Amino acid sequence: MWNPPWAKARPSRSCSPWPNPVTRCTCARMMPTPPDPTPCHPAVMKKAVPRPRAALRDLKPEPHGAITPGEMERLGLHPSAVLDFSANINPYGPSPSVRDALTHIPIARYPDPDALALRRVLARHLSQSMENILVGNGVSELIWLVVLAFVEPGDRAMVVEPTYGEYARALRLMAATIVRWRATPDDHFAIHPDAIASRLNHERPRVVFLCHPNNPTGQLLPLDALATWADAHPATLFVVDEAYLPFAPGAESALALNRANILVLRSMTKAQALAGLRLGFAVGPAPLIHALRQVQPPWSVNAAAQAAGVAALADPAWLRASLARLQKDAQALVQALRARGWAPHPSATHFFLLPVEDASTMRAQLLRRGIVVRDATSFGLPTHIRIAARTAADNARLLHALP
Ligand SMILES: Cc1ncc(COP(=O)(O)O)c(C=O)c1O
Repeated sequence: MWNPPWAKARPSRSCSPWPNPVTRCTCARMMPTPPDPTPCHPAVMKKAVPRPRAALRDLKPEPHGAITPGEMERLGLHPSAVLDFSANINPYGPSPSVRDALTHIPIARYPDPDALALRRVLARHLSQSMENILVGNGVSELIWLVVLAFVEPGDRAMVVEPTYGEYARALRLMAATIVRWRATPDDHFAIHPDAIASRLNHERPRVVFLCHPNNPTGQLLPLDALATWADAHPATLFVVDEAYLPFAPGAESALALNRANILVLRSMTKAQALAGLRLGFAVGPAPLIHALRQVQPPWSVNAAAQAAGVAALADPAWLRASLARLQKDAQALVQALRARGWAPHPSATHFFLLPVEDASTMRAQLLRRGIVVRDATSFGLPTHIRIAARTAADNARLLHALP
């Protein structure tokens, strides 16, 4: 019978901890504790398989809004029969000029790795220089680049919750230690600057993720508080995800604070309705942008997305008009819900949280009527659903379907 080497092993100071490079065998005396399977033993060799990183062991996929084709197939639903209130996207769709731009894409060529044309237009729109802008494959990619560029395993990183789950997922993959401050439904998920400041003082995180306005609560970040935190913690990177800023009329951007340790992320998948093409950008001080660029895979933003971005930015009138209309639709929906006895939480955006008895039951019940809402259980809110307002006609269908 084969005895594992660690059964009688004693640590020895003269032994190297590494396997013999020729036999790949680990000498018994080298191993004070059970090692990984000893590769030279035939019984073990047969079972040896490539192992993913330990950080992946408990890493679950993050639930998102938008029903997937897979779920529709399982439920026997046809996409045309489903109204999706679970994804916070402009329901009026992209500017018509986007479709025109997509007919001339040179798809046999690599896309511009520097996204020069798009960055040039963005720089003009944002009154920034091009070195302050990095284009990414949606804000989702940029979040992961931030973690790759600025977080080491074991670093503390802070997340203000409940919020978009990808910040914590990317941090978990990096084996960072996540510290949290959490808003509660009792005061409609208000941000408490003093409580956050004391958490920052205590934890001194390397990175802080903030969402402005926040998904799923629709709460805005107090920018004066952000400026104070950023000044008090110059070595901390404050990442402000402004994916939904265009849906909050009159709200200011954290860009206005112009701090060396504030990075802003913007999405063109939501307001400009380019979700299927994937497009976002980071704006911030050049050294921060340079670090993100260093870890970005080449050509991650395809040619169609770049051209669509340029076309969408060339039609600000479409964006203004569609978002103004959506704001009215959202206000009317919230009023109608209140009139029927529901109590939606106040929100600066077109999406909002609605308290229900059981979110998963409510989602299933509405789905049977062809309506998709976001079950907020994954945000730690099993008694809330998130609804993103759609056009007036669609909202009427939602009101009709609600119990
Ligand atoms: C707050 C927030 N940031 C970023 C994203 C992802 O944005 P993108 O589509 O640009 O990757 C989402 C998507 O739901 C989100 O809710």
